[in-house]
Amino acid sequence: MLENIQNISAEIDKFNSQDTTEIENFRIKYLGKKGILNDLFEQFKNASGEEKRALGKPLNELKTKITEKYNEQKSLIEDNTSKKDFIDMTLPVSNDLLGSRHPINIVMNRIIDIFKRVGFNISYGPEIEDDWHNFSALNFPQDHPARDMQDTFFVNKNPDYALRTHTSSVQIRVMENTKPPIRTISPGRVFRNEAISARAHCIFHQVEALYIDKNVSMADLKQLLLYFAKEMFGSSTEIRLRPSYFPFTEPSAELDVSCNICKGKGCNVCKHTGWLEILGCGMVDPNVLKNCNIDPDTYTGYALGMGVERIAMLEYEIKDLRLYFENDIRFLKQFSTAL
Ligand code: DAH
Repeated sequence: MLENIQNISAEIDKFNSQDTTEIENFRIKYLGKKGILNDLFEQFKNASGEEKRALGKPLNELKTKITEKYNEQKSLIEDNTSKKDFIDMTLPVSNDLLGSRHPINIVMNRIIDIFKRVGFNISYGPEIEDDWHNFSALNFPQDHPARDMQDTFFVNKNPDYALRTHTSSVQIRVMENTKPPIRTISPGRVFRNEAISARAHCIFHQVEALYIDKNVSMADLKQLLLYFAKEMFGSSTEIRLRPSYFPFTEPSAELDVSCNICKGKGCNVCKHTGWLEILGCGMVDPNVLKNCNIDPDTYTGYALGMGVERIAMLEYEIKDLRLYFENDIRFLKQFSTAL
């Protein structure tokens, strides 16, 4: 029996586990009702007086050893689990996961802010638009190329519904529902059926502006454009208007601003002209006013529309449109300090 006790004692010395079930099995095996220790004490009871004298001490020592081992292993494992759950509230905060605004949103918010400061409110319209609001009311002729499947995403190939190709559609919705004076901007996403490249994308963003009142003239438009250009690109910015054509404005123009990268000297961005085209504009065509039940003999107005990606490209010298949509964290992180 003494040899048995010594063997068991050696087994106990060796036991080491991080596993709760193994530790529980250890308890059952050695300390359980039908466990080894109880068995040894049974044998001890039946031993002769002389044997008892020899075995008493080692058997009691074994009992203490097993109990201590069990308690020690159990508290070790409890200690480890509580360490895992422990949150150190004194650690400094990690900034790694802090998000940043998308450059398109940053620029869009700046544009909105510039217009808000001179009394424009904001109107939103649907991204799926009907033919009337996207084309017909805006004076697009039936055979205009924009009405072609190659240029426009029609919904279920139904020519009556399309993803809006411009935010000019919101002009119509506002004019149909509001009596002049109207002074509103419409920011939003627009869609065109274009092959994706560095210079073209099938989704982009526009901000449209519309002002309708009595006696609104081209001079008012020019004044607003100068204000906008200086606020957006800096106070030394100059503007020029070039005649253009849009079905919904008459006369129509395109706005160029002096290149703020080369300060007008000529560079790659302005293609050595010293000027950058940034938006389309004009006086709202009387047909458009009539389509919205606004009397063109009483009211006139101007409208303009710009691509936000284009402005952001100039602002941040971004050369590839696709970067805006890929959401590569290395690209986005560069704007984390901007508001
Ligand atoms: N809707 C035009 C486009 O997407 C932009 C535009 C040009 C809007 C002239 C206007 C405007 O309101 O007057 O290209």
